[in-house]
Amino acid sequence: MVKVGVLAASGYIGGELLRLLLQHPEVEITIATSRKYAGEYVFRVHPNLRGVTELKFSANDASKVMADSEVVFAALPHGESVKIVPQIADAGLKVVDLSADFRLSDKGQYPTWYGYDHPRPDLLEKFVYSIPEINRDQVKGARLVSSPGCTAITATLALAPLLKEKSLGIDRDHVVVDAKVGSSGAGGKPSLYTHFSERFGVVRPYKPAGHRHAAEIEQVLAEMAGESVKVSMSAHAVNMVRGILVTSHVFIAAGVKPLDVWKAYRSMYTGSYFVRLVRDKQGPFRLPDPKLVVGSNFCDVGFELEERTGRLVALSATDNLVKGAAGNAIQSMNLMLGFDEKTGLTSAPLHPV
Ligand SMILES: NC(=O)c1ccc[n+]([C@@H]2O[C@H](COP(=O)([O-])OP(=O)(O)OC[C@H]3O[C@@H](n4cnc5c(N)ncnc54)[C@H](OP(=O)(O)O)[C@@H]3O)[C@@H](O)[C@H]2O)c1
Repeated sequence: MVKVGVLAASGYIGGELLRLLLQHPEVEITIATSRKYAGEYVFRVHPNLRGVTELKFSANDASKVMADSEVVFAALPHGESVKIVPQIADAGLKVVDLSADFRLSDKGQYPTWYGYDHPRPDLLEKFVYSIPEINRDQVKGARLVSSPGCTAITATLALAPLLKEKSLGIDRDHVVVDAKVGSSGAGGKPSLYTHFSERFGVVRPYKPAGHRHAAEIEQVLAEMAGESVKVSMSAHAVNMVRGILVTSHVFIAAGVKPLDVWKAYRSMYTGSYFVRLVRDKQGPFRLPDPKLVVGSNFCDVGFELEERTGRLVALSATDNLVKGAAGNAIQSMNLMLGFDEKTGLTSAPLHPV
């Protein structure tokens, strides 16, 4: 059994990591940290885990985490991870970081998007930004991995094949990403934005322009295209707890047919269990819908082509806590450790929910 530690295990992502890792046949959770709940049973904070584990939270002590684990998942807020993860990385442990602190390879992007100068830019080139369906081989050999933002991975999985397939002639300057995000995307800390009375029933534009995840999406799409790509992104808070639907709009070359688009998706995702191409001819479930991936590590991807205007509408749906975070992180760990990438992650989505 591989010894695994989870930093900031009291948060929503920490809780989801625990839920999934407790079902993983190859790992043992040796330490789960929380500043606030050190000494408390995990199930007091994550009541879904009552009867599943007797684990207690430990203090956020890096040396104890290093002594007790071979792999560390860090589910800290951005700006905090960078204060603790470098010493764990320097000590030679395997790390999967879920914050934004190691996602961007260019240190110059941090002041722009996150408002701080990166204190350890040398680590940025050592961390592999992991979307296994796109860069599986890189993740396999990695010791340090950064898992994407939830809207970023959802958008990128729908867009990467389109930018990679040159014959589609995608206009690289006008890639528009529109995300609808459930409340758990904002984490477990209550605020006026997430207070039930204020959030229930909303379709609230919370970041109509300048969303930070555009930086990560551009980073991957530029690699796919071999040239720079401009992503214009908007995000809305909607009336779900788990789930993200991303509607991406791109403009394609005249004469491109739906079959060409379908082939681009097939060529990237054949053999990738966690990306399901969803494009039926009829019925309510003919396109991706976040309700249909809840609790699972699937990202459903589909599209419609508006030939009259040359607009390709790419749709993608994830559970933000699973493929958008903890599931993708565990899938990455599986690859880092040489396990089948699906290990511990094959439970089907809930329906109805
Ligand atoms: N929610 C999502 O859908 C999602 C998706 C992808 C990635 N992420 C990323 O994953 C990370 C965790 O997100 P989350 O949704 O789990 O947030 P969360 O529910 O707010 O949990 C974060 C945890 O971090 C700990 N923490 C907060 N401030 C801290 C500080 N200053 N120093 C040390 N620990 C601190 C807290 O635990 P204690 O107070 O108990 O120590 C808290 O429970 C973030 O970087 C987020 O951007 C989130």
